[in-house]
Amino acid sequence: MSVAFARLRRLLLSVAGIALDADKLYLAESRLAPIMLENGDVDLAELMRRIELSGDERFLQAIIDAMTTNETFFFRDRAPFEWLKREWLPHTMARRREQRRLRIWSAACSTGQEPYSLAIALEEEATRLAGWTVEILASDINGTALETARRGVYSQFEVQRGLSTQRLLRHLEPHMGSWRIPERLRARIVFRRINLCDDFRDVGAFDLILCRNVLMYLDPEVKEQVLARLARALLDDGYLILGAAENAGADRSFAQDAADCGWRLRRRAARARLCAAVGA
Ligand SMILES: C[S@@+](CC[C@H](N)C(=O)[O-])C[C@H]1O[C@@H](n2cnc3c(N)ncnc32)[C@H](O)[C@@H]1O
Repeated sequence: MSVAFARLRRLLLSVAGIALDADKLYLAESRLAPIMLENGDVDLAELMRRIELSGDERFLQAIIDAMTTNETFFFRDRAPFEWLKREWLPHTMARRREQRRLRIWSAACSTGQEPYSLAIALEEEATRLAGWTVEILASDINGTALETARRGVYSQFEVQRGLSTQRLLRHLEPHMGSWRIPERLRARIVFRRINLCDDFRDVGAFDLILCRNVLMYLDPEVKEQVLARLARALLDDGYLILGAAENAGADRSFAQDAADCGWRLRRRAARARLCAAVGA
C-alpha cells in the first residue's frame, strides 16, 4: 500500500471514524480526482501533502464530503416507516399524552430523503397528531449532502426511487422540471452538521433515532462508541433504527425489539446493561 493511501486511511479514521478497506485505492482516487484536478495535484501523495500542510478546515471538509457514501432514497427499506405509523406512533403518543411532544433524529441523513420520508409519514397522520409538537433533527457529516437536504429539490429520477405517484403529488410540488419539498415540510426539520464521532450531548434526548446505513462504514471500535453515545441520546423507552441489513453486533446498550428484526432496537434499561456487561 502506498504511503499516501495509508495516510488518507488514517485521516478518514481519525476524523470521521470511517474504515476504508485497504483495497479501495481506486475508489479514493476516483472520488478525489475532481479535488486533485482543481488544485493541480498530480497524484494522491501531492494531495495528502497539501492537506497536511494547509490545515485548512474547508479543504479537509471537501475530502470528507468526497469520501463519504451518500446513497439514499425515499422510504428506504419501507418496513421502518410502516412500523412507525402502525405501532410506534400510537404507542409513543399514549405514553407522551401529557407532554404532547415527540422528538426524532435522522442521524446520518445524507441528501435528506430520510428525514423528508419521516415528515411525509407524519403528515399522513396529521389528524391524529393535531395539537402535538413533533421535532425532527436531521444531521450528517457531509456538508455538501446537507446543503442538498436543506434545499429539498429532487430530480424525477430521485423521487421515483421510493415515492409512489400518490405521495409525490400529495406532498411535493413541481419546481423547474424537478420536485420540491414544500416549505411546510421543510420547516418541520432542523438540519445540522454533526459528526457521529464527536460528543453530541447537546442534541438532547429523543424518542426515536434513525442511524441507518452508516455504522457499516465505521471502524468496529468507533461503531461501539457511537452506539453507546446514541443510547445516551435516547429516552429510556426510545428506539434506535438501523438499516435493514445492519445489526448492533455485540453491543450491550441495545436489545433487539423482536427476535426476527435486527434493525429495530430498544434501549436496554440501566440494570440490564450492567448484567449484559458482566455476563449475568
Ligand atoms: C449511505 S448514507 C445513508 C443515508 C440514510 N441514512 C439512508 O439510510 O438512506 C450514509 C451517510 O452517513 C454519513 N456519515 C459517514 N460518516 C459519518 C460520521 N462520522 N458522522 C455523521 N455522518 C456520517 C455520510 O456522509 C452519508 O451521508
